[in-house]
Amino acid sequence: MTTYTWNRRHILSLADFTTAEYNAILQTAASFQEVLSRRTKKVPTLQGQVVANLFFEPSTRTRSSFEIAAKRLSADTLNFAASTSSLTKGETILDTAKTYLAMGTDIMVIRHKEAGVPQAIAQEMDRLEEKVSVLNAGDGQHEHPSQGLLDLFTICRLIDPQKPRIELLQGKKIAIVGDILHSRVARSNIWSLIASGVEVHLAAPPTLLPKFFAEYLGLTTPENFQEQRLFTHWRLEPALTNADFVMTLRLQKERMTGNLLPSLREYHQIFGITRNKLKLCKPNVKVLHPGPVNRGIEISSDLMDDPEFSLIQDQVTSGVSVRMALLYFIGGGKG
Ligand code: NCD
Repeated sequence: MTTYTWNRRHILSLADFTTAEYNAILQTAASFQEVLSRRTKKVPTLQGQVVANLFFEPSTRTRSSFEIAAKRLSADTLNFAASTSSLTKGETILDTAKTYLAMGTDIMVIRHKEAGVPQAIAQEMDRLEEKVSVLNAGDGQHEHPSQGLLDLFTICRLIDPQKPRIELLQGKKIAIVGDILHSRVARSNIWSLIASGVEVHLAAPPTLLPKFFAEYLGLTTPENFQEQRLFTHWRLEPALTNADFVMTLRLQKERMTGNLLPSLREYHQIFGITRNKLKLCKPNVKVLHPGPVNRGIEISSDLMDDPEFSLIQDQVTSGVSVRMALLYFIGGGKG
């Protein structure tokens, strides 16, 4: 296990993550991956601590992944689902968080459809001088740090399974394709990939990738656009050409307010990832998708299931060890 001294109480965004923090997470996640391959897949790290999963928005893999990660670390877990909670009786989100606080929660894992909710809860916990950590499990279109980190881990581990580190990605080309406008996964990945020295190519129809997207992110200005190694395209070909990895994103229909696409069939024809289109990439290209997948839209169904190209199942597996690493660091020193 790494001896890195962790200084961050909350994990809300990857925008200001340092190289040392990325590498500490990657190396610790690799150690936990090893633990998960043992017969006894549990360690006592968070014994006695309470991890509350406060999911105000539907989720399959992220919620289950945090739950199993906390359990593998021997924490006690509480699960909350908005639809069956007192929110339906008019309780505010902050009051819900305070209720979990009063039950002795040490770590709150929060997902909400509005950007900024995990930040607001973290601020309130700090204001109350409660030593509770908040982990953002996806807030609106803003960020999804644990997904960004598990994608990073999946890619780095493919290159060096024993010592995954961001330096391995220096100079690689990664295409992020799909509904970038509405995607918190894209935003978190952009931060981590740029910090890793990756050349990031975004590709989507103009309605899903505004011209000034990078500036809107606060990431760059037109002058240093190239320096930042972030490129935007309204066509797929320049993004795929010689790419080492292709990250596909779900069309976030629940966040679309207008008719942003002519038809799903046309979208698939132009931007859907297929074996044929992958011929433009490096020969051993790999494809990622955070899930849930709209089969046959963002990615062709056969490609999704082909282990030669698809890292989708690896992403899910990596998610558990990466989330164990996150809980380990922010839960450290309290038990
Ligand atoms: C993503 C999410 O919820 O942001 N999924 C996930 O966490 N695995 C992406 C998505 O919903 O498309």
